[in-house]
Amino acid sequence: MNIIVAIGGGIAAYKTLWLIRLLKKENHQVKVILTQNAMHFVTVTSVETLSENPVCVDLWSTSETSSHENEHNMHHISLAKWADFIVIAPATANRISLLAQGNCQDLLGNVIMASKVPLAIAPAMNRQMWENPAVQKNISILKERNVEIFGPARGSQACGDVGEGRLLEPEEMMAEIDRWVRPMTPTFSHLLITAGSTQEPIDPVRYISNSSSGRMGIEIANYAYQCGIDVTLVYADINPKLLDGLASNIKRVCVQTAQQMLVAVENQIHQGRVENKPYEMFIACAAVSDYRPAQYSEQKIKKTNENSFTLELMKNPDIIRQVALDKKEGLPYCAGFALESENLLQNAEKKLKEKKMDIIFANPVNSINAQLSSITALWQVGENMVSKDFSYDEKSENAKYVLQLLCQNYVKNLREQKTI
Ligand code: C5P
Repeated sequence: MNIIVAIGGGIAAYKTLWLIRLLKKENHQVKVILTQNAMHFVTVTSVETLSENPVCVDLWSTSETSSHENEHNMHHISLAKWADFIVIAPATANRISLLAQGNCQDLLGNVIMASKVPLAIAPAMNRQMWENPAVQKNISILKERNVEIFGPARGSQACGDVGEGRLLEPEEMMAEIDRWVRPMTPTFSHLLITAGSTQEPIDPVRYISNSSSGRMGIEIANYAYQCGIDVTLVYADINPKLLDGLASNIKRVCVQTAQQMLVAVENQIHQGRVENKPYEMFIACAAVSDYRPAQYSEQKIKKTNENSFTLELMKNPDIIRQVALDKKEGLPYCAGFALESENLLQNAEKKLKEKKMDIIFANPVNSINAQLSSITALWQVGENMVSKDFSYDEKSENAKYVLQLLCQNYVKNLREQKTI
């Protein structure tokens, strides 16, 4: 993993040197941003030696003392693109305030603004400062934006006070980072996922369907399987070549129509409960036809001399809604997708609420066949709607991010329900 460690100007900065060492021991690539104030506490030489990378100190250059290759003036963008994860430790009251404002006065502010990867901050300050309502307000703003807050810890402080505001110990920060950079350690064990597009037959040779390759579902299923999750895929109409890429130990159930998909999904959920292996997560990735022909013709419908042909349609069951409504035991956590040609986020939010999903991933319609897909995840925290954007060049990367977010949200959800 490529990790940016940003060091703020606080006395606790010395602990972050050990954190860099721990990250390197785990074979992470580390680039360090030192804020101007941080350079009063730790030196460029220590940081470069430990991180084995040139240190980044301001918007216009890497450190003058760096013996490594020079980067261009746009290095806030290249740094943001390079990173898989960013942690700011120590995060001072000033830095927390700058983050809450979206302030871009320095290199770190610009990198954060240009980045979509998970951001964590480890606050460290005097206990009175930490308790200050302004700091607490800024922390709650950052939490709403889904910034992870590591600590702070309680104890004796460098200023002589005793209280909350100590930077976590390097090992504790490392453990927190591990939870993020290793989505490979899944937080749930059984995943049920739908993929592909249902076909609603009109007659033996014709049907109504949607445009969906099923690739996203396959990528998510494969990645979940690699992470050690037991996966069942219920799918309709996926190209056999694509299906060849599905890990062979993934249980698969092939269906054609929306009604069959609902039955298969409900059967799986029931079976999981009976076998004491309940699905904790349901991801509805399939493009399900909203309507099906009211009548199926056993024989191929013949062309007539009329200029028009009317086909009566009736509504299909909504699979994810049905599962979400049936959450007797609070499980599974339900994740859906919304593909929209207009008002993407408004429509996705409406679906999230109407279908009682726990989270929705909104895609613009042009992502169907595109390699690059941008996704916005939306979910509710209390009364507030939280959103997170991400887009990678590969659908497989997006699938990783989807699963990573689901692992995190699944645990947060259990904590909110006080189940753990
Ligand atoms: O309503 P719409 O099809 O846009 O909703 C998208 C989400 O709902 C997807 O997650 C899709 O898999 C799911 N869905 C479903 N059953 C339907 C229609 C959609 O599970 N009948």
